Amino acid sequence: MLKRKKVTIIGAGHVGATAAQRLAEKEIADVVLIDIASDMPQGKALDLSQAAPIYGYDSHLIGGAHYETTAGSDLIVITSGLPRKPGMSRDDLLRVNAKIVKEVTQKAAEMSPEAIIIVVSNPLDAMTYVAHRTSQFKKERVIGMAGVLDAARFRTFLSMELNVSVENIQTLVLGGHGDSMVPLPRYTTVSGIPIMELISKDRLDAIVQRTRDGGAEIVKLLKTGSAYYAPSAAIIEMVDAILKDKKKILPCSALCTGEFKIDGVFVGVPVKLGNQGIEKILEIQLTTEEENRLKSSVETVKKLCKIVDEVL
Ligand code: LAC
Repeated sequence: MLKRKKVTIIGAGHVGATAAQRLAEKEIADVVLIDIASDMPQGKALDLSQAAPIYGYDSHLIGGAHYETTAGSDLIVITSGLPRKPGMSRDDLLRVNAKIVKEVTQKAAEMSPEAIIIVVSNPLDAMTYVAHRTSQFKKERVIGMAGVLDAARFRTFLSMELNVSVENIQTLVLGGHGDSMVPLPRYTTVSGIPIMELISKDRLDAIVQRTRDGGAEIVKLLKTGSAYYAPSAAIIEMVDAILKDKKKILPCSALCTGEFKIDGVFVGVPVKLGNQGIEKILEIQLTTEEENRLKSSVETVKKLCKIVDEVL
């Protein structure tokens, strides 16, 4: 009998709940929504279940605070942690979120030892490191969500600038999910046409900068939290690629062990996502300048991981 896949989402805030909604609406999996706030995840899961007859999905959703219900999940998505407030950098969240991510990883990994973990909590690359260290899962099964989101922002801004379909735009954003991220114009095309042929350098530079600041721009506008529609959409693209074994090439935070001359650090690189998790890291050619940017981004992540080591 074909069994529907099971995805646990930890953290039933805006990102987690919107991811649950998207997963259900696409009928990708059954969803368990976990949060420390008692009742609230039950309420959201029930509300989403009551949308099912109208929307026409049969995915089951349950919510709660107890990890027993998550047992045997194929995928665990960790969104827990404090979100950014205006003026706060992702890194300000470091210590407090490290403790939270450690705790939820322990509980979830124990119930689903075969699962693949996708980390969404910030600061992203350091929190992915926390989940890997805590779960002791194989490196292929612990993945950070950032590059898909950052690339989506870059694609959105380019589409606005050029007045072409967002679907035509392909790009890669590497490095840590922070101010040091490395959007790659040289790997950016509009339906195969190199982006440099379609846009002036000044405009491109401005759009690259807006991409780097993409998260902060939303935080500033929302005032009470950070982005969730685009982050949850990015989660779903990764979940879908894994559960359907699509072998999609996407920028994700992965533990590099020698690739790009990076050793022992989680950072955004192009990976192939399939049912084994990260099936390959694609070591693309970089110019010296791109390589230096990636290196300095790696240094930023390394510093955060050192601080995290004190908390773990
Ligand atoms: C952002 C936060 C979630 O980039 O990191 O929107």
